[in-house]
Amino acid sequence: MCGIVGYLGSSKACPILINGLLKLEYRGYDSAGISTIENNKIMCIKNKGRVKELQNIEEINSLNGSIGIAHTRWATHGKPSSINAHPHLDNSKTFSVVHNGIIENHRELRTFLNNAGYTFLSETDTEVIPNLIHYYYSKEASNEANRFVKSVKKAVQDLKGSYAIAVISSLEPDKIIVARKDSPLVIGVKNNDKYIASDIPAILEYTNNIYILDDGDIAELSSNQITFYDKNFNVVNKNIEVITWDAKSACKNGYEDYMLKEIYEQPTAIRETIGTILDDCKKCNFGNINITKDYLASLSRIYIIACGTAMHAGLAVKPIFERLTSIPVEVDVASEFRYRNPLIDEHTLIICISQSGETADTIAALKNSKLCGCKTIAISNVIGSSISREADFTLYTHAGPEIAVASTKAYTSQITILALLAIYFAEVLERHEDTIIQNLKEEILELPSKVSIILENTDLIKEFAKKIYKEKDLFFIGRSVDYATTMEASLKLKEISYIHSDAYQSGELKHGPIALIEDDVTVIGIITDKRLVDKSISNIQEVITRGAKTLIITNQEINNEIFPNIVHIPKVNPLLSPILSIIPLQLLAYYVSKEKGLDIDKPRNLAKSVTVE
Ligand code: G6P
Repeated sequence: MCGIVGYLGSSKACPILINGLLKLEYRGYDSAGISTIENNKIMCIKNKGRVKELQNIEEINSLNGSIGIAHTRWATHGKPSSINAHPHLDNSKTFSVVHNGIIENHRELRTFLNNAGYTFLSETDTEVIPNLIHYYYSKEASNEANRFVKSVKKAVQDLKGSYAIAVISSLEPDKIIVARKDSPLVIGVKNNDKYIASDIPAILEYTNNIYILDDGDIAELSSNQITFYDKNFNVVNKNIEVITWDAKSACKNGYEDYMLKEIYEQPTAIRETIGTILDDCKKCNFGNINITKDYLASLSRIYIIACGTAMHAGLAVKPIFERLTSIPVEVDVASEFRYRNPLIDEHTLIICISQSGETADTIAALKNSKLCGCKTIAISNVIGSSISREADFTLYTHAGPEIAVASTKAYTSQITILALLAIYFAEVLERHEDTIIQNLKEEILELPSKVSIILENTDLIKEFAKKIYKEKDLFFIGRSVDYATTMEASLKLKEISYIHSDAYQSGELKHGPIALIEDDVTVIGIITDKRLVDKSISNIQEVITRGAKTLIITNQEINNEIFPNIVHIPKVNPLLSPILSIIPLQLLAYYVSKEKGLDIDKPRNLAKSVTVE
């Protein structure tokens, strides 16, 4: 959940590290710090608060080293403070470490190190790492070849839990050692300059040529080479992956916030995602997933597993999968699924969705499913992400880097690719008439321009945001596929505006929540399924009768005189409507948060990817 950057090259490290940290703040932002090496001495500056506050510390400008590591933190062990901030040093101040993840056996390691004479300054799990490295380094003979990397290897062998680490040492001031397990880390290269990052956007400005570390890998970076070791400490070769995202896609590009930019990037994100699957003859190309008719016909169930917004994408596509494949679909939260011994076997297909591809619970759920004999498909937005390495097959959304913590373009791209997958399954199964499939494909191709239409008409949403931004509670209601959208809309609002909201199936209102409706309570209804218009309208009327003010998002004909605030969205097959109906509600959350003057891209307590349980 934290961000790591590192640099080794011919330029001054500090500005590159700060620049990288600023791009990584979406991973955590309660403290930040930098270590560089100058004249064989580790210089370490760290602080509670945002990277900007670190930047304001005067001494930062005097860091002249051309090798360094840096970190922005999302606290797990130990409150946000400058002492708990990374980098951490060993007692002799010869090793400095930045770490993402959680060391589960840090207490035992602390006791072990205490007994060996080491002391600790912070409350963090991380501080054991530089001391362990020091412990092993001092045990190696001084003429031992590769002493530094060997000590790191021995230290990480003692760690239980997850980690991505970068280590520098004043004793070997021309090297950075990195290692990873269950937490991402990449190395970028350009000429002789080397960049380290927990997430690609941090270094995109400098290079698109990336090495992706596998679980258990260790790498030793020096000015003229990188040596990769696998989990058995054998030297291995790695191929460079060329990342197609450009640096601009990781900038705000004139928008006030990343979230707004990403909302407006949705037509492109959806178009690009479709473009990788549907060819000119409108044939679905899922050539990379080896799924046969016999296999699909043998399935008793599909499970879609994910967290947060990605889980809502699963809810949104459950109806299209069930309608087109006649296979029952269950959608579950990864943190629940992984611990409840679900009834799954080789007749269950598991689809895991994760924008980052690094969410710990989702990866664990996927691994457990494989042990039960299930085939697994991952949907991710990040090439080479951990989940893509674990899954049998991976499908990539092509949303480009998503920086704002609140997910928008990844969500609509996930629904798009999953809708195409449902269509593909139906084709393989031959369970549907061609015309139904062809019509859905035509409709999918029209989605980007329909999203653009919604994005061009935002006045009513902006006005409504002004009316409700001071509220404490509100409700979202919808039926069938619209219920999935209410869940996501409610999450979006909570995440960035801190207003409490609940999402209910409209028909459930009468079974309890309606007791909370009184004068001026806001209820937002979504109505996109023709079959359910009358029933949904009755539910809206019931809350208006009890004094509620309402907003309706719809593509149906609804009387403006009776219902004052209606946002009309383009007509679409209800199975695809979640891609359109969420757009005004993403904007509503955005503008409510804007009215409140909050930090939209970095909401309190949240992190973009949750790499710890
Ligand atoms: C965090 C983020 C959410 C995201 C969820 C799942 O909670 O704040 O925006 O939906 O993780 O992330 P993933 O990368 O697995 O889609």
